[in-house]
Amino acid sequence: MNATINLENKHFPVLLNELISIISPLYGGTFIDCTFGQGGYSEKILEGKQNNIIALDRDKDVISNASKLQKKYIERFKFYNLKFSQLDQIQLKNHKIKGIIFDLGYSLNQIKNSQKGLSFSDKGKLNMRMGLNDFSANEIISNMDENNLAKVFKVFGDEKYSKKIAKKIVEKRKDKTIKTEDLVQIIDKVKKYQKIKIHNSTKVFQALRILVNKEISELINSLIKSFKLIPIGGIIAVVSFHSIEDRIVKFFFKHYSEQSNSSRYFPEIEVSERCFKLVNKKPILPSLNEIRQNPPSRSAKLRYGIKTSDKCDFSEFREKFKNLVNVEGLR
Ligand SMILES: C[S@@+](CC[C@H](N)C(=O)[O-])C[C@H]1O[C@@H](n2cnc3c(N)ncnc32)[C@H](O)[C@@H]1O
Repeated sequence: MNATINLENKHFPVLLNELISIISPLYGGTFIDCTFGQGGYSEKILEGKQNNIIALDRDKDVISNASKLQKKYIERFKFYNLKFSQLDQIQLKNHKIKGIIFDLGYSLNQIKNSQKGLSFSDKGKLNMRMGLNDFSANEIISNMDENNLAKVFKVFGDEKYSKKIAKKIVEKRKDKTIKTEDLVQIIDKVKKYQKIKIHNSTKVFQALRILVNKEISELINSLIKSFKLIPIGGIIAVVSFHSIEDRIVKFFFKHYSEQSNSSRYFPEIEVSERCFKLVNKKPILPSLNEIRQNPPSRSAKLRYGIKTSDKCDFSEFREKFKNLVNVEGLR
């Protein structure tokens, strides 16, 4: 989710109707909601009386929401305060999983919670931890060396001024601890004469959030674990918000759903196993109506695949995004 506030200033579950029509919970089954958040997806699915939800979220602030659903649907809802890369730690008992869903990013409640410091409008100590993190943005900005800072801003934020910003951070932190408002000011000073549509700090903040929450390895590991968890015929559906996430999700489904090389000049060669059936080659996007009602949804993309085989070797998937995972490992 994006840091912009929608018209009603509350969290809207993005692409909800589209997601529901894909996973068809009308026929009953158990679904894993990997990003419980405000519970919008889970609650809608639980309206179907034959449905069960196993929900996960790394943010302990959502536990109170989860408890409400737990009381209402005693037998049909279970919540775990876990990262989705820990998907294999949940107890499935006899549940056969029909679908696993992800709504990546942040809820509006998280963005509005100034203690989390996810937004460049916040003040005070840098944080950006969603929950169950190893370190905060403060530790990165206070300790990471200049080259690595520049690399993080470039790779995860595509920030043109990554080197200059990193240099200024290292200079400034000699005098004082850099707070959120100081970082915004440093970036503003570097980009003084720039006229762009997005806020000067958007890219650097995106990069820091990705690093602090290890969004890349979280996504890669959880997609692979999801594949192992669902039976043939099960669905994995992912709503992504930024281009790096979408590149990973797109490759995962597309690469492993193509059976052979399609060139007419070469004999058919198996290039990868066919592990998914893709019903939609293109991502599903929010309608104009949804974007009007909830402007942050404009960057959402929904992709999904139906598992068709148990055998799938994801080494090419890991290899493809190895460089991003390496940058995420920098300190
Ligand atoms: C966009 S919100 C989900 C909103 C939800 N679909 C709804 O309808 O209310 C994303 C949620 O995913 C959680 N999240 C993000 N990354 C996660 C991860 N790696 N593991 C577990 N939860 C994660 C966030 O804490 C946040 O609550």
